[in-house]
Amino acid sequence: MNADLSARTRLTGLLGHPAGHSLSPIMQNAALRRGGIDAVYLAFDVAPAELERAVRGLAALGAIGVNVTVPHKEAAAALADELTDEAARAGAANTLAFRNGRIVGHNTDGLGFLRAAERLTGRLAGKRVLLLGAGGASRGVAAALSAHGARVSIANRTVEKARALAEALGTDALGWTPEELTAAASAADVVVNGSSAGMRGLGTIPLDFARLPNRPAVIDLVYAPLETDLLHRARAAGLPTQDGLGMLAAQGELAFAFWHGVDPEPGLMESALRQQLTP
Ligand code: ATR
Repeated sequence: MNADLSARTRLTGLLGHPAGHSLSPIMQNAALRRGGIDAVYLAFDVAPAELERAVRGLAALGAIGVNVTVPHKEAAAALADELTDEAARAGAANTLAFRNGRIVGHNTDGLGFLRAAERLTGRLAGKRVLLLGAGGASRGVAAALSAHGARVSIANRTVEKARALAEALGTDALGWTPEELTAAASAADVVVNGSSAGMRGLGTIPLDFARLPNRPAVIDLVYAPLETDLLHRARAAGLPTQDGLGMLAAQGELAFAFWHGVDPEPGLMESALRQQLTP
């Protein structure tokens, strides 16, 4: 964000419901400021019934583009005039760009996950990944991992949902018992938590790293708290870990590049988030 807003300042932002808790304005505005780009990034709480009017209104105002988050990602993809391969594959868009009168839908969640995860794990192609969760976030991650050539097993508290997702991707499903999770983690190179377990107030994951014969890397997509119970136990067992700010920043970096045609300064978005969240 430029300190001096002017008649030429362009708009980017986020549409969500709710939107007020979003950390995206912190990192996107930090990167705009550093890049000297005359634009701002604001968060808008838009009810589902208003999504189409909001998107078309922003396009009419000449906005550069917006992120869209829960619950709008599928509806945003349906509104777009064209979709990138990533958005088409996911059936969901988390980024829209307004270009030459057209709405272009993109999805940076899967690519953002891969970019962040590979900083910790190296190339994921061919690696065995145990994915915990089968909701919206996990579906995006599972699709990205499979398309990238990783071998994914899916565990979920409600095992039918794990089975449905595993079937769609041609992978294995397992239940949420300590025995099943520990056996699967023993055979994994990487463990990823895409479920909400570990968020403040929600349950923990019955996986005991101390009993593993191997040393998987452990990635949690949850970032509130930054150190989840899962990451705490993984660190105590000496395993390499990554918290939820890795993916959050990486999907934001990719959206920034999609809108502005330049990459943000490497590491800047993540450090802006970390600064915001560290007391
Ligand atoms: P998101 O968009 O964040 O993925 P979601 O689609 O509502 O949200 O999915 C939430 C995921 O977290 C699901 O996999 C859910 O498991 P169920 O399918 O059994 O509901 C999982 N989840 C939520 N709370 C959990 C808890 N306390 N323990 C284990 N899993 C939990």
